[in-house]
Amino acid sequence: MKIRLAILGQGLVASHFEAGLERLKDGDMKPYGVPLANFPLPYRPEDLEIAVSYDVDNSKVGRSAYDVAMDLMGKEFPVPRGLKDIEVRRGIHMGSARGMPYSATGLEESRGLDAAVGALVDDWRSLGVDVVINVITTESGSAFGSADKLKEAVRSHAPNLTASHVYAYALAEYASARGGASFVNSIPTPLANDEGVIGLYREKGAVVLGDDGATGATPLTADILEHMAERNRKVEFVVQFNIGGNTDFLALTDPGRNSMKELTKSSIVDDILGYDAPHYIRPTGYLEPLGDRKFVAMHLSYLSFNNALDDVYVLARINDSPALAGILVDLARLAKISLDRGVRGTVYQVNAFYMKRPGPLGSQSISKIIAFEGLKKWLGSGS
Ligand SMILES: NC(=O)c1ccc[n+]([C@@H]2O[C@H](COP(=O)([O-])OP(=O)(O)OC[C@H]3O[C@@H](n4cnc5c(N)ncnc54)[C@H](O)[C@@H]3O)[C@@H](O)[C@H]2O)c1
Repeated sequence: MKIRLAILGQGLVASHFEAGLERLKDGDMKPYGVPLANFPLPYRPEDLEIAVSYDVDNSKVGRSAYDVAMDLMGKEFPVPRGLKDIEVRRGIHMGSARGMPYSATGLEESRGLDAAVGALVDDWRSLGVDVVINVITTESGSAFGSADKLKEAVRSHAPNLTASHVYAYALAEYASARGGASFVNSIPTPLANDEGVIGLYREKGAVVLGDDGATGATPLTADILEHMAERNRKVEFVVQFNIGGNTDFLALTDPGRNSMKELTKSSIVDDILGYDAPHYIRPTGYLEPLGDRKFVAMHLSYLSFNNALDDVYVLARINDSPALAGILVDLARLAKISLDRGVRGTVYQVNAFYMKRPGPLGSQSISKIIAFEGLKKWLGSGS
């Protein structure tokens, strides 16, 4: 059985995901960076098929994922020709790319929001899409709190509607007509943390996993914090920052977008240690020559026995987009498996391992080492 995917946001993460999947199918690489690659799941990575992709950048819409990926990463990574079959169609904008250095237009600008949502639902129906994956530019947005408020915001085209909320709403409409579908939210906009989306998904028969894929430095910090907590060391402060040169980091130079990341990254300290040690955890800057290999620095200071003061320093250069692309290979499969198991709403055990801000709202952030055990238990339990 295949899983048919639609991708939102044909950027670097999407390009690495699509290229990596094709290379896996071609036997051209091993599935390193896919946590459950060797775990027996009902679907293999090779069962994932990308049916369509969406973007709002006018220089990408209408081209193939191959052409876009060649421009974005073709100098550093092989781009399989299979990506020529993935068409980049126009998505819904809602201002999410405002201020970015390219011209962007959404479907809703020519035909209105209701017709734009309808067009997406029609697309997904004709392509037999099972799972929609959100990797659009980080946007500023907040939760609606109830399904009624979210529906009303879509009905009245409220100014606080984000592109992600509209896509998630379209998925609910699609799931209701089709008898189920899933949404993976890899960006910080609260969807799995929004009772509005969760309530709507329970009602319409859909699953949402989210929010904000946990890759790179944040899971490492979470696991180091767990180590400190287990040894009853008193953490004095944590500093963790990233500087990168990709367009995601460029987008984060906007304070509204950056604060979304700070929100998703900072909850780990209090949740894991049980007290709020002073911390500064956020992407701090954009420096173009760094490209997609971000510079990560971490400094953690703690008290051990007899009040001795110790320090841990970590310095790293991490390929940003492939890290998220690798976990999407699991998330796409887990989104379908959750639906097959009859889940409606979200799955904390999946979110806790893969997400920076695991839904539903109010869930604790736990270390990734502990979350992985919970995930395996959930997978083994069959429900
Ligand atoms: N390791 C990681 O790279 C990582 C980790 C966690 C989360 N994320 C999230 O993944 C997302 C994508 O990262 P990226 O590096 O691929 O960024 P990117 O800038 O390369 O790609 C984003 C793409 O989304 C498109 N877009 C913007 N608004 C859109 C809309 N409304 N509909 C459709 N497409 C839209 C842009 O035109 C662009 O092509 C970001 O939101 C980021 O926060 C990335």
